[in-house]
Order: sequence, then C-alpha cells, then structure tokens
Amino acid sequence: MKSGEGKSSFTERTDDSSAMQYFQFYGYLSQQQNMLQDYVRTSTYQKAILSNLTDFTDKVVLDVGAGSGILSFFAVQAGAKKVYAVEASTMAQHAEFLVRENHLSDKIIVMAGKIEEITLPEQVDVIISEPMGYMLYNERMLETYLHAKKWLKPHGRMFPSQGDLHIAPFTDDTLYMEQSSKANFWFQHSFHGVDLSSLRHFATKEYFRQPIVDTFDVRVCMAKSVRHSLDFKSAQEQDLHHIDIPLEFHVLESGSVHGLAFWFDVAFGGSVQTVWLSTAPTEPLTHWYQVRCLLETPIFVKTGQVLKGSVVLLANKR
Ligand SMILES: C[S@@+](CC[C@H](N)C(=O)[O-])C[C@H]1O[C@@H](n2cnc3c(N)ncnc32)[C@H](O)[C@@H]1O
Repeated sequence: MKSGEGKSSFTERTDDSSAMQYFQFYGYLSQQQNMLQDYVRTSTYQKAILSNLTDFTDKVVLDVGAGSGILSFFAVQAGAKKVYAVEASTMAQHAEFLVRENHLSDKIIVMAGKIEEITLPEQVDVIISEPMGYMLYNERMLETYLHAKKWLKPHGRMFPSQGDLHIAPFTDDTLYMEQSSKANFWFQHSFHGVDLSSLRHFATKEYFRQPIVDTFDVRVCMAKSVRHSLDFKSAQEQDLHHIDIPLEFHVLESGSVHGLAFWFDVAFGGSVQTVWLSTAPTEPLTHWYQVRCLLETPIFVKTGQVLKGSVVLLANKR
C-alpha cells in the first residue's frame, strides 16, 4: 500500500543510504541475538503476551518488524490463530526457516518487506512489536509501529500500548570533566608547533551534542523525573515529527545540573493484566541502558528551587 507519488511513507522520510544501513544491521543474526539475549526485554514480552491469553486466543496478529520472529512465536504460544510476521531485512529468510523448522508454517506467515509497503490479506485483532530505540524515539521505528494501525480492526489491541519517556536533571562532575578534557585537546597552542586553539569551540560543541548512552546510579538525579506519555492506540505517525515536552523540576538537592537524563517504560495493557517493561536506572539494566545529554554550561541550583525548560525532539526531514 503506497502513498503520494508511488512512494511509501517510509521511503519519503528515509534516505536510501540510511535505509540500507539500517536493514543491513538487522540482517545480522548477531544483532538479533543481542536483542534476544536481553533477558529483561524478551522475558517481559513473553510474560505480557502469555498473561493476556484472551487477547491472543484464536486471534489474528500482526508482528511489526518481526526480526527472528520471536514475538510471533510468543503469540502462537498464547493461542493465536494466525500471525503475519513482517520483516524488511534479510532476517525474514531466517525467520521463515525457523517457522518451518518449528512446524508452525500453518500459523506464522512471514512476509518480507516494509510495513509501509506490504499488503495484508485481512485486518488484524492485535499488533505486536518491539519498536523502541534509545530514548524511546531514536531509530524512528515507532512511526512504523503507528503506521501499521491501518491494518488494525477498530477495537484491536496494541502490544505495547503506551510509552513513557522520563526526563530528569542530573549532576555528574566526572562525566562533565571527561567530555571537557577531550575537547581541551584542541586548546593547545603548540601541538607539534601548530596552534589548534581556534578549533576548541567547535570541538566543545561536537563533544557536548553527543548523547551519552550508559548507565548511572539514580542518586545523580537531582529531581523527580518528568514523564511524557504516548498512547500508541491514539497517536498518529505525524505526531512524532516534533515532540515538545515542557519541563518543571522541583530540585531535591543543591548542586550543578550537568544535563538531562532520559529513560523509558512501555506498558502492555492487556485485557487481563497490564505488564510494564522499564529501562529506569532503578531497574535491572537492559540493552537500551539510559541516555544523558550534557549541557555545555552547568546550571547551579538550590534545594527547593523550581527549574523550568523544555525538551524538543525534532525528526530529520529524511
Ligand atoms: C528492534 S528489532 C525487533 C525484532 C524482533 N521483533 C524482536 O523483538 O526480537 C526491529 C525489527 O524491525 C525491523 N523493521 C524496522 N522497520 C521496519 C519496517 N518499516 N518494516 C518492516 N520491518 C521493519 C528491523 O529490520 C528489525 O528486525
């Protein structure tokens, strides 16, 4: 199903070279393994699906970006009648092989192609997917997930059903100094006799605009996080192109704010039970870690102060 001048919404928003790189990455078994071996991720998905049998038994399911097909197998374990497993990378062939070797070819139909471009033979009762990137929105696969709703029956379900992005100010002298000293390399006036200092400013910009993906002790957070929720059932693809999140923090301890920390949770709102998958710093670590964005100039704050601002997540045109 295509839109516009014969181009799908995926092709319209993605450079060919990006798309190629992206699907090449997911074509590696080692990358699928990396996700499968994230025990928190995989076991929480299985738990969410198997604790809501009534949402899957005898139902038709769409697995968006099926990869190895793991979520499709879980849907069958929960009693699904039929699962359309759509995968755009060459992993589709491996998934097909797994399905055949697990004797499930009558239930799981692997379709090679992009969700935005394939045609399903029918509308589905449930959509399952694992479209979360770093900071939830990175990768822009959530747009593909929302796009897939064109195949969902009016009262169908989304697994996951909601995504919450959490944002908190943090203090971390060591991290700040680490990035500053990398940039300070360019402050040398005689590096092998050459003055590099005119580039220091650009180097600082480059280092400080790079989000840091790692984990940290939650005690670096200086206020309770602000939560930005997205309801996958009602949100539209276009809503994700410009996300403006107002921030208001009630500072819990005095010190220097070195930046903002991000993590996310997703909820699987089933008809029996709601199951949460959390990537918070207080929870067991996942392959999403947490993300921190540094400020070039720290802000000094005092206990009890209110710190206000906003975060804008702006998608590239392509
Ligand atoms: C994060 S992985 C999840 C794989 C698998 N569902 C799992 O949970 O292990 C996302 C998968 O979606 C696929 N994908 C991303 N965008 C897609 C699109 N527009 N159409 C079809 N597949 C897509 C990727 O190639 C990748 O294999």
